Amino acid sequence: MEERIVSAHLHSEDDVQIEMGLRPKSFDEYIGQEKIKEKLAIYVRAAQERNEALDHVLLYGPPGLGKTTLAHIIAWELGVSIRVTSGPAIERPGDLAALLTNLGHGDVLFIDEIHRLNRSVEEILYPAMEDNALDIIIGKGPGARSLRLDLPPFTMIGATVRAGLLTSPLRDRFGVLDRLDFYTPEELEKIILRSAGILKVKAEKEGASIIARASRGTPRVANRLLKRVRDFAQVKADNIITAEVAGEALKMLQLDLRGLDEIDRRLLRALIEKFDGGPVGLDTLATCISEEPETLEDVYEPYLMQLGLLKRTARGRTATGEAYLYLNLPPKDEPQQQLW
Ligand code: ADE
Repeated sequence: MEERIVSAHLHSEDDVQIEMGLRPKSFDEYIGQEKIKEKLAIYVRAAQERNEALDHVLLYGPPGLGKTTLAHIIAWELGVSIRVTSGPAIERPGDLAALLTNLGHGDVLFIDEIHRLNRSVEEILYPAMEDNALDIIIGKGPGARSLRLDLPPFTMIGATVRAGLLTSPLRDRFGVLDRLDFYTPEELEKIILRSAGILKVKAEKEGASIIARASRGTPRVANRLLKRVRDFAQVKADNIITAEVAGEALKMLQLDLRGLDEIDRRLLRALIEKFDGGPVGLDTLATCISEEPETLEDVYEPYLMQLGLLKRTARGRTATGEAYLYLNLPPKDEPQQQLW
């Protein structure tokens, strides 16, 4: 299946490379998430002054908002090394033990998608995070012995879409928990202008603003759209991203001015036309658009809710009056006009 241009996930190795080039290196370069940045900068400074490792940090929120970037910045600001891995990549306790024993004093271990760690690996993490200790079992059966190794003080940074996906013993071991929110169009505009500078693309403020508004509150989407609009500007215009060029490019990509695509519209239309606007259960709705319920819940819905087009209620998902307006459909509660 072709990737959606507005999906917040990384699409390819190429995406990763480009993102690394655009990634801000310090808190000063990082745009947005002001409250989180302010707090983290204080914790980093305090840990440095005490010559201690920073407390463990859990960053959560929709994909593409900069959790990995923040982890790199924290390590950079602390002046320590960072090791990057992910929940599914750590298959066995031994994999985690190898990572932990290679950490230097105060280093950062970043685990993306930390909610996907398996149980036996997670159990190794508890004493590591709490007591800087690695418990390993030597041998099997009645003769097995447990051996405790000391680890250097380190900082674990975990990332996940929702804090609630973590088991409570794991969640409780993080001293700092922060939720990243969608960026404002103004912040995204700044990010786009910064990226355009790095990529040596000429972009007018008005052009950047159009791209920003279609970026679903997500820098990863903003940077991806910027690259597509750049291609359009190069081939169809004078190599300058103006408002008009940006608007035309979005049209070609079948995105509206708020970055909604055909899949979003299909979802809302299904909700309204097949289920009378809801409430309908998550699983049923996911089936309608051939998506995993988790993806619907963690990736598509947050932005639709942010725009006020969809609501989650105890009985299921409902379309708002705004959604009817958006699709040019008659509102639910208005009696239909009698035609005879
Ligand atoms: N590129 C991607 N995210 C960014 C951010 N938050 N600030 C600056 N540049 C970025």
